[in-house]
Amino acid sequence: MNIKDNLKIITEHWGKINPLKIRDYIDVGGYEAIRKFIEKMKPEEAIEEIKKSGLVGRGGAGFSTGEKWEAVKKNKGEKYFICNLDESEPGTYKDRAIVDNNPHLLLEGIIISALAIDAKKAYIYINGRYIKQREILEKAVLEAASNKFIGKGIINSHYDLEIEIFSGAGAYICGEETALINSIEGKRGEPKFRPPYPTETGLWGKPTLVNNAETVSNIPWIIINGGKKYSEIGSAVSPGTKLYVLGGAVRNSGVFEGPTGMTIGAVIDKLGGGLKKGKELWFSQIGGSSGRLVLENELDNSLTFNKKSEIPLGSGAVFVFDKHSDIYDFLLSIAGFFRRESCGKCVPCREGTFRLYEITERMKDGEISERDKEAIKDILWTLNNTTFCPFGKFAAVAFLDAVEKLKILDL
Ligand SMILES: Cc1cc2nc3c(=O)[nH]c(=O)nc-3n(C[C@H](O)[C@H](O)[C@H](O)COP(=O)(O)O)c2cc1C
Ligand code: SF4
Repeated sequence: MNIKDNLKIITEHWGKINPLKIRDYIDVGGYEAIRKFIEKMKPEEAIEEIKKSGLVGRGGAGFSTGEKWEAVKKNKGEKYFICNLDESEPGTYKDRAIVDNNPHLLLEGIIISALAIDAKKAYIYINGRYIKQREILEKAVLEAASNKFIGKGIINSHYDLEIEIFSGAGAYICGEETALINSIEGKRGEPKFRPPYPTETGLWGKPTLVNNAETVSNIPWIIINGGKKYSEIGSAVSPGTKLYVLGGAVRNSGVFEGPTGMTIGAVIDKLGGGLKKGKELWFSQIGGSSGRLVLENELDNSLTFNKKSEIPLGSGAVFVFDKHSDIYDFLLSIAGFFRRESCGKCVPCREGTFRLYEITERMKDGEISERDKEAIKDILWTLNNTTFCPFGKFAAVAFLDAVEKLKILDL
């Protein structure tokens, strides 16, 4: 593993340029990647560079970005690109931070991604509650269009691209790509059976590329510096940098960029500045509310998007709990979130998340019965194994770890 500790790809200009002024972005080399793509590369060459970079999706699943681009590109006819900015995972605000601090980096990535697969229309799907970020994006799109980076004949080339910002109603499940597509089509925001995958049959039945906002923000750097250079950063299995979102008992809360492959301990100590004075580590949750709980003896685990990894990096959120945290408050907030956000399409999740919440309430009140203990085992198994989409598994993760590692119940 080759870690270049201080390399900043996404956050390089944060706090140094005015995000509302395209000129500031251009002055630090912004939109040069589009120029290079248009003047010096064929779309296939850009896709090759992305494949070479080893970039994998930052939306959680860790799928190869280059391979996904290639799968959409090979289709003929109308296609779409969608940038996923739903970001409803509690404790995760990295994608919004990109918009707040450098929206043109994101736009440049979106434009290149869309042109590389021959899409003439791109959507930014944003959670409807993120009003400030929508306004920033609206301004950025207008400015980019008036500088000929969006619209007909981008910087006087044969490329055309329209970008639409689409606000969802603010549902966690609409971050899942098939539910997101349903939502844009005006249907209920619930997942669809896959296959067919959106790369073949996506928005309006056309091949569609869905990429997370952080994934897309890496694209300009790769186009300028080459895929090989990117592949040398961080962990070999999922190279590059990652935005880590730190919170809880650490000294520094917020969004920090570091290489992939950092150990959990290094993220807490180097990026988070260690624990706040007087705090003692109990456990951490990695990857947001759907992430695993880890104890002190697991801090040496490296954070990557390796599918076989015991502790998936997920959204990159790292929340640290100290010895005095109330575990039942924590579990109740997790259960409440998943109960509220279940889309209701399948029974195990629709009913299971409600029952889990009710039992957790009794747990908190110290009124848990032997029957509850039996029921919770069944509910967690059912959520983990039988639901229509991964949301059910997500709802069970923290509970399963709390039972196994924190011994919250004598099951
Ligand atoms: C319940 C659920 C919620 C999701 N929420 C998000 C989200 O908020 N943002 C996101 O980019 N991906 C989210 N995803 C993953 C997307 O379905 C999809 O894999 C991702 O947007 C693809 O982009 P990437 O390849 O760049 O990661 C979610 C998946 C599930 C199952
Ligand atoms: S598991 Fe079922 S009910 Fe839950 S979000 Fe997925 S489809 Fe909807």
